[in-house]
Amino acid sequence: MEEINASIAFDRRLARQDVVASRAHAAMLAATGIIDNKDAEAIREGLLTVMSEIENGTFEFSTALEDIHMNVEARLGELIGEAAGRLHTARSRNDQVATDFRMWVRDAIDLQTKALHDLIESLLEQAEAGAEWTMPGFTHLQAAQPVTWGHHLMAYVEMLARDIGRLADARRRLNECPLGAAALAGTSFPIDRDMTAGALGFDSPAANSMDTVSDRDFALEFLSSVSICAMHLSRLAEEIVIWASPGYRFVILSDRFSTGSSIMPQKRNPDAAELVRAKTGRITGASVALSMVMKGLPLAYSKDMQEDKEQVFDAADSLMLATTATAAMVSTMKPDRERMREMAIRGFPTATDLADWLVRELGVAFRDAHHMTGRLVKQAEDRECALDELALEDIQAICGRDVSRDVFSALSVEESVASRRSYGGTAPERVREQVLRWREQMASTRERSR
Ligand code: ARG
Repeated sequence: MEEINASIAFDRRLARQDVVASRAHAAMLAATGIIDNKDAEAIREGLLTVMSEIENGTFEFSTALEDIHMNVEARLGELIGEAAGRLHTARSRNDQVATDFRMWVRDAIDLQTKALHDLIESLLEQAEAGAEWTMPGFTHLQAAQPVTWGHHLMAYVEMLARDIGRLADARRRLNECPLGAAALAGTSFPIDRDMTAGALGFDSPAANSMDTVSDRDFALEFLSSVSICAMHLSRLAEEIVIWASPGYRFVILSDRFSTGSSIMPQKRNPDAAELVRAKTGRITGASVALSMVMKGLPLAYSKDMQEDKEQVFDAADSLMLATTATAAMVSTMKPDRERMREMAIRGFPTATDLADWLVRELGVAFRDAHHMTGRLVKQAEDRECALDELALEDIQAICGRDVSRDVFSALSVEESVASRRSYGGTAPERVREQVLRWREQMASTRERSR
C-alpha cells in the first residue's frame, strides 16, 4: 500500500509552496479568531524552521508519511508540539494540494516565459545580423523562392511569442485560490478566503468548492501550451539538424553543441538539436497522459489526481532544458552567408520572378510566362548555370524579342528578396522592422512583469 500510495518521492517538489500556503492559512485562522495568536505564532515560527530545513537540505522526508503535506505537518509537530495540530483546522489535503500545485505551475509558467524571452532574444540577434542574407526558402523541403535568413528566423519568433501568450492565458485562468474549499464542501468555520487568496498572490478565491478541489484544468492547460511550444522547438531543432548537415552547411554548430563520433573523426553530430526534437515526445505524452487520468472522474477529489504531478514536473523540466539548449545553440551557431547564397541560386528560385516580370513588363499571360520560364530553367540546367548567367539572346529566343536587359534585375536573388516588400514579406527592410517591433514588445512585457 505504501508503495502505491505514497507521493513524497515526487511531491517533495511542492515543499516550498506547501509551507507558504500553510503560513497564509495559519495567519488567516488567527485573524478570524479560529485559533489563538499564541498558537499562530508558534506555527509561524515552526514553519520558518521547516522552510530553512527544506532549503538547506536537512529536512528528512519519510515515505511512511505519504506526502509532502503530512511530512511538513509531522515535522511541525516535532518542532512545536500540540499547536501544530491546529494548523489543519478548516482545510483538507484536497484544497491544500490543489493550492500548492497551482502555485507551482504558476512559478513554472513564469520561469518558462523568461526562458522563451531569452530564446527570442538570440533569434532576434541572428535575424538582425542576417536581415539581408539570401537563402533558399523551401516548400516540401524543395527550394521554392529566395528568402532572407533573417525572415526565416523571425518566423520562429512569431511562434514562440504565441507560446508566451498561451502561457499567459493559462496563468490568468489558473489564478484562483482553492484554499478553504476544504475536502469538497467548504467549511463551517468562519474563514476568510479573500485573505488567504490575496496573501498567496491569487486574484480571488475559487467560487465552487467541489470544482476547485478536483479541477486540474490549470495543469492540462499548462501541458497543452507546453506541448505546442515543444512542437515549435522540435521544428527549429529539425531545421538546425538539416542546416548543419554536410549537404546544406548553412550553419556551423559550436563545438559545445555538437559531438564527434567515436569512430568517424570527420563527424560533428547535432546531438543537442536531436534531443530537443525528441523531448517533444515525452512532453506531449505528459499532456495526453493527464487528460486520460482526468477523463471520467466523478466529482470531487479522487486519488487518481495524484498522478498529475510527475507529468507536469517532467514536462516543465524537459521544456525548460530544451528551451535553454536551443537558445544556446542559436546564439553560438555560425551561419555561412556565402553557402546559403550559393544554394539560393542553385535551385532556380527566381523562376517565379522571371515569370512575373514577363507578365508585368510584356503583358504575357501568366500560363505562357510559366511555360517559357520552365524552358529557360531546363536550358540553364543543361548548361549547369544560374538563370542570370544565360545570355540575353537565349532568353529572347524563348520569351520573344521584346525582352530587354532589364530582365536580369528580376533574376538576381538579391533583387528578388528586395522586391517582396509587402507587409509580412521577406524584404530586408521588412525583417528589420519586425526585429525592431519585437525588441520593443519584449522590452515592454519585461517591464510589465517586473
Ligand atoms: N498526495 C495527494 C495528491 O497528490 C494529496 C491529496 C490527498 N487527499 C486525500 N484525500 N487522500 O493528490
